[in-house]
Amino acid sequence: MSKKYKCAFITGATSGIGEELAKLLANMGVELLLTGRNEEKLKSMGHPYFACDLADKTQREALFSWALSHQPDLWINNAGFGLYGPFDQLSEQEIESMVQVNMTALTEGTHKALGYFLEKERRGTILNVSSMSAHFAFPLGALYSATKSYVRQLTISLDAEYRQRGVSLLVSLPGVVKTDFQSRAARGKAVSYPPLAMDSRFAAKEIWRQIERSKREHRFDWRYRFLQRVQALLPQSVADSIITRALKKRI
Ligand SMILES: NC(=O)c1ccc[n+]([C@@H]2O[C@H](COP(=O)([O-])OP(=O)(O)OC[C@H]3O[C@@H](n4cnc5c(N)ncnc54)[C@H](OP(=O)(O)O)[C@@H]3O)[C@@H](O)[C@H]2O)c1
Repeated sequence: MSKKYKCAFITGATSGIGEELAKLLANMGVELLLTGRNEEKLKSMGHPYFACDLADKTQREALFSWALSHQPDLWINNAGFGLYGPFDQLSEQEIESMVQVNMTALTEGTHKALGYFLEKERRGTILNVSSMSAHFAFPLGALYSATKSYVRQLTISLDAEYRQRGVSLLVSLPGVVKTDFQSRAARGKAVSYPPLAMDSRFAAKEIWRQIERSKREHRFDWRYRFLQRVQALLPQSVADSIITRALKKRI
């Protein structure tokens, strides 16, 4: 049972990490407010929901008003997607959509939730999902990793700005997680996971542990933290070619 949180809003709750987070929080007696585009899936999950395409400004404004009217005390911006491949081959529409979902919607959601917590003088937590890719040069995934670097920088800076006023802003950086994310990023191509890949249940537990500890930034798991150190010691060209080779298998 969570003593600290009564009601959580979760974006990207229809699959992967968000779905596992929803199950985990529901088991702890936290009321849920869920969103995603897949309305059938949302309906089947048995919690209040609002189907929304986060790439659409009008839809997400309605979503945020609905969510805040239920007075959440935990706000999780988890929705996001990537597309692997050479940057010059992304369409304008794909670029726009990734920026809208991964950055703009997350920024607006963070702004609305923060404003709500401050105005009501309520303690609250905002958790944003970034990625370990935010820490590397990420050839063939440049735009995706750039959006996740943005999420990290925004969140750690806001936490430094607002924690004293009762709002904690946390950022999670998972390594590879076995979800629909990878095949979506590979445009439907079947993908094999690297040995370091973790399952979505494990990722959800790591995120919950971070929330409980109110830890500003959490990179997981330890193997990725170790790799980050190793990578920093490698010549840049070697690190670049390792990542390029891994991502080439996905395009
Ligand atoms: N899997 C990984 O290896 C990995 C690693 C590091 C970070 N992450 C991050 O973890 C987060 C969750 O990803 P996941 O691995 O759980 O992937 P996933 O299974 O593909 O889930 C992504 C979620 O985002 C939602 N979403 C995507 N585009 C949307 C849009 N336009 N409007 C509304 N919702 C949208 C999807 O819902 P609908 O399809 O219903 O719209 C889905 O619920 C993402 O931010 C991702 O960048 C993933």
